[in-house]
Amino acid sequence: MYQYTDFDHEFVKLRAAQYRDQLERWQRGELAEDEFRPLRLQNGWYVQRFAPMLRVAVPYGELNSAQLRVLAKIARDYDNKPDHDLSAANAGLSDLTSLPDHVAHFTTRQNVQFNWIPLEKSADVMDLLASVHMHGIQTSGNCIRNITSDERAGIAVDEIVDPRPFAEILRHWSTLHPEFAFLPRKFKIAITGATDDRAATAWHDVGLHVVRNEAGEVGFRVMVGGGMGRTPVVGTVIREFLPWNQIINYLEAVVRVYNRWGRRDNIYKARIKILVKAEGQRYIDEVEEEYAEILANDGAAHTISQAELDRVSANFVAPATLNCDKSDAERKIANVLRAAAEDDIEFSRWLQQNVAPHKNPDLRIVTLSFKRLGFAPGDATADQLDRAAELAEQFSGGETRVTHDQNLVLPWVRCDALPELWKAARKLGLAKPNIRLLTDMIVCPGGDFCALANARSLPIAQAITARYQDMDELHDLGEIDLHMSGCINSCGHHHSGHIGILGVDKDGQEWYQVTLAGSDGSNLSGQAVAGKVVGPSFAAAEVPEVIEALLDTYRREREAGETFINTLRRVGHDPFKLAANAARVSTARAPKGEAQAA
Ligand code: HEM
Ligand code: SF4
Repeated sequence: MYQYTDFDHEFVKLRAAQYRDQLERWQRGELAEDEFRPLRLQNGWYVQRFAPMLRVAVPYGELNSAQLRVLAKIARDYDNKPDHDLSAANAGLSDLTSLPDHVAHFTTRQNVQFNWIPLEKSADVMDLLASVHMHGIQTSGNCIRNITSDERAGIAVDEIVDPRPFAEILRHWSTLHPEFAFLPRKFKIAITGATDDRAATAWHDVGLHVVRNEAGEVGFRVMVGGGMGRTPVVGTVIREFLPWNQIINYLEAVVRVYNRWGRRDNIYKARIKILVKAEGQRYIDEVEEEYAEILANDGAAHTISQAELDRVSANFVAPATLNCDKSDAERKIANVLRAAAEDDIEFSRWLQQNVAPHKNPDLRIVTLSFKRLGFAPGDATADQLDRAAELAEQFSGGETRVTHDQNLVLPWVRCDALPELWKAARKLGLAKPNIRLLTDMIVCPGGDFCALANARSLPIAQAITARYQDMDELHDLGEIDLHMSGCINSCGHHHSGHIGILGVDKDGQEWYQVTLAGSDGSNLSGQAVAGKVVGPSFAAAEVPEVIEALLDTYRREREAGETFINTLRRVGHDPFKLAANAARVSTARAPKGEAQAA
């Protein structure tokens, strides 16, 4: 876990104090609405359908138990659905009694969001966050956003180099960088040092892979121009190997050229993906020129020294209490686990889906599942956050990590503690053995909360979750990425789902477009690619039927041991498309041509 420094502490405290002053001046009428808006946005305060939404930055997903408790307190004391009737504002979209409050929401970029905090309380919330080194700086706006990473960073068995010290150094560089505070559009960086890409790096504005070259030297494979939205683009590799100490100098060139040429005239074309797509080699050449200029004329000002890397790396401290007695431990543990698993199919499934190997053979990485019936995917109640903090302290050296898939990982669990942890997590309803299975879906808040939505995503997610409660069936179906967004902004990463669902609005009604064979770039899914639309959109009630038809096709066509995505790629889209389109039951149809338009 990263040990925050005195500087970090002072920095966020001052920022919270500055925000309180801005809020109070706005409340006194000294700041106009238009003046206050960018100030609150720079601290993560958006205003959504019914209430402000706060996005809290969680650098590379690491949360300690004290931070979890503060998030729990914020959820419990401040995340309150207002008493007054919201139905007028709701325009018939949703049954408001079912919208949860007192919850924190884990996002795909390892952040945490709240949906119901009144703006008047926002400065108090910032103070609480600052008390545990947290904030909302650069979680909004056209700047370099919080940098995300692999939730298994530093502990993954497939890791080449721990990416966290680099993520941390880049955090220092990008935080309040004056030149990059007003980019043409927001800018997202993800970094991994493992062979399995769990951070969807190819879908980011910049995706970084820490690698070693043939000489064993550490460097970066640099991808630029990935992104989703209405124009999904997979990042282009612009450097196969950049020496590690040059990463800031190089990114300075990458972002500067974007800042110079990005389309400020058109919000839909303003992301770096459009520039890289339009200019191709010309963009890359200009980055290289700019980089050469930085090296020659700026004296390579941001070359990272070994001493700085060592200093930052030393701030990542593994829990001290985890030194197990290694004598014969592995065999004994394996025996205990095998016996327990034979006894209990649920425990055995949990070991299979929710428990992953660790760099330290005595330890395991455990995922708590926040994908369960009755809750929005990725939502954690105040009590669950408190209990998760207890689990972290008891079983994982006080540390957790938020995952790209909207779950929470316990990164330092002793093998011999697994049965006890499983029982404790099960009591909390967080031990569903569904990690990477159909119900472990990525879903955005959609029309229930989001002002930009075309359709709701949460009720569709609920209907699918309710339909696939049988664990025998779920395990038989195997690993499937189902991703859903309530509009083309693609917060729910529908483009990268093996099955993607996108909410579209036609004539004031909610419709859902279904895509097939998208990939996030992980080992399970293969090279990152956007899914393809199966045909005209479906009505809400049809969506679970369509999913069932797709899965039936898979069951029919699969060969032994084949995953959904592999069968789909082997047999092609046609039988799946046919089945999906045959699952329509309603006669009312979305207008023609919409599949192309969205
Ligand atoms: C209600 C609150 C939210 C609002 C208003 C919102 C708004 C937006 C908008 C406007 C974009 C597109 C920006 C562009 O392409 O330039 C976007 C992208 C994105 N959002 Fe959200 N979002 C919200 C919640 C979330 C949540 C909860 C998540 C995660 C679960 C999320 C994850 C993302 C991601 C990963 C992208 C980038 C997709 C890309 O590469 O184009 N957002 N969001
Ligand atoms: S995808 Fe659309 S509906 Fe979903 S959170 Fe993003 S902006 Fe809102």
